[in-house]
Amino acid sequence: MIKKMSLIAVCMLLLVSNVLLAQNKYVGAGGCKMCHMTKGKAWPTWNTSKHAQAFENLKGAAALKVGQDNGVASPSTDEKCLKCHTTAASAKAANGGITNADGVSCESCHGPGSAYKVGMSSSSIANAKSKLGLIIPTSAVCIKCHNTEIHKSLTFDFETKMNLIRHKNP
Ligand code: HEC
Ligand code: HEC
Ligand code: HEC
Ligand code: HEC
Repeated sequence: MIKKMSLIAVCMLLLVSNVLLAQNKYVGAGGCKMCHMTKGKAWPTWNTSKHAQAFENLKGAAALKVGQDNGVASPSTDEKCLKCHTTAASAKAANGGITNADGVSCESCHGPGSAYKVGMSSSSIANAKSKLGLIIPTSAVCIKCHNTEIHKSLTFDFETKMNLIRHKNP
């Protein structure tokens, strides 16, 4: 009986966490802009970084060359390049409106934001992190893309790179 009860409890938990996860969709950097524009400047810092340009750059001459070396004719439409150069490519069923034009967006690092961004404030942060999927990334997140899969001579040092894109709380 106790076993059965705990089985039911586990099922309920799974159900609840599935519902929560189902709410977490990728909304795009536009969904963060209104609150992260002035104080902390997270949005402007991102918008002037290479991450915001990562999709546009797939249309340039340098990208065509990288494409040729990797058997890719059209980098800006090929999954092989899009998977690291856009957040949208990995959003799939969790796409809540993000497009390739966002390049590598906030949510590649902080997790899909549709649930945690609602009414976000200093008092909601703890709950956002424990229940709504807000992530403060470590280098493990960066290395999902900053690796040598395509770019054989790429190197990555977290502190050095982070200093180029660091942004603050509002
Ligand atoms: C309704 C306004 C609002 C929106 C929309 C919003 N944020 Fe925030 N966010 C805040 C505020 C206010 C804080 C600062 C809380 C504090 O000072 O502790 C914050 C803090 C954060 C933090 C820092 C958490 C920490 O550990 O202190 C991250 C990361 C973050 N937001 C990411 C995002 C992302 C990504 C989006 C878009 C998907 C987003 N926010 C949308 C208001 C917002
Ligand atoms: C595993 C993830 C990953 C894949 C897959 C990937 N890239 Fe990249 N790409 C990166 C990262 C990370 C950088 C930034 C490297 C740095 O500057 O340290 C980058 C940089 C570039 C740059 C240089 C941009 C600039 O500012 O000069 C070009 C061009 C490029 N990639 C094209 C491509 C093309 C074309 C493909 C597909 C054939 C591709 N990439 C696939 C992660 C990836
Ligand atoms: C490339 C990954 C990456 C992207 C893209 C990114 N962030 Fe962050 N963000 C981080 C990391 C890592 C930290 C942890 C703080 C540190 O080491 O400085 C952070 C910290 C923050 C903080 C808290 C700063 C503090 O002082 O505690 C806020 C707020 C935030 N990010 C919001 C955003 C918003 C909004 C966007 C998009 C407009 C965004 N971030 C895009 C990686 C990213
Ligand atoms: C979803 C894939 C992805 C993730 C995750 C990611 N990046 Fe990037 N990053 C890229 C791509 C792609 C580029 C190259 C964009 C371009 O120039 O076209 C890049 C470029 C950069 C650049 C500019 C290159 C330079 O040296 O000037 C910095 C800095 C950077 N990333 C830091 C980080 C840090 C720090 C993290 C983790 C907190 C991170 N990135 C996470 C894909 C990613």
